Amino acid sequence: MKFPIRYRHFEKIEKHAWLLGILTAFMVSLGGLAEITPLFMEAHRVQPADHVQPYDPLRLAGRDIYVREGCYLCHSQMVRQLRFETQRYGAYSTASESVYDRPFQWGSKRTGPDLARVGGKYTDAWQRKHLLAPRSLVPESNMPAYPWLEEATMDAEDIQARMRALRRLGDPYTDEQIAAAPQALKGKTELDALVAYLQGLGTQREASDE
Ligand code: HEC
Repeated sequence: MKFPIRYRHFEKIEKHAWLLGILTAFMVSLGGLAEITPLFMEAHRVQPADHVQPYDPLRLAGRDIYVREGCYLCHSQMVRQLRFETQRYGAYSTASESVYDRPFQWGSKRTGPDLARVGGKYTDAWQRKHLLAPRSLVPESNMPAYPWLEEATMDAEDIQARMRALRRLGDPYTDEQIAAAPQALKGKTELDALVAYLQGLGTQREASDE
């Protein structure tokens, strides 16, 4: 059967697996670049909104415990712009809220609920009890218990080095804040720090943003 000229070209491509593979990879890369490049440019421009502050020492320490314990393996921290998400969790997440999150905890795995707006949802006492024994509050929960957090006290030495490192990356900590940091952690347990971190999640959003 005789095809018009352009069909003959297609036939040639479709009958040669290598050629088809290479051209497909080329087109997919072009599409990928077109989507990803603008995002890269944008990422450098995201500035914190005025009301977004870097973590205070206790929350910063709590954040490290969150990462150490792998909470992100079951919890995301990003409310997507879909109606059923905002109805369940609250206002959708914005990039400027996460400028001081290194590394960010957006995540994608939701064995448990999203935590981006969990701050203030429960009392401190609830959060403590839940972390020590989740099933005492939510009988059907499959979240692990973290009883050791209550026994471990915070390492007040370490926090200043962490704040300095973050300052180098652009977090606006002042010398006074860094000097006062060990005092803020004195006598605190890892549980205190983690609860402080959780209670701060989502609270940096201004009412006008919603
Ligand atoms: C194996 C998966 C898993 C891990 C790991 C996990 N969780 Fe959970 N989490 C859940 C599930 C499931 C729920 C829902 C049931 C419940 O409330 O216990 C939950 C609920 C929660 C809630 C209540 C959320 C709400 O809106 O009701 C908080 C807060 C929470 N987890 C914090 C943490 C923290 C902090 C860690 C790490 C120390 C952690 N979780 C680790 C599975 C997990």
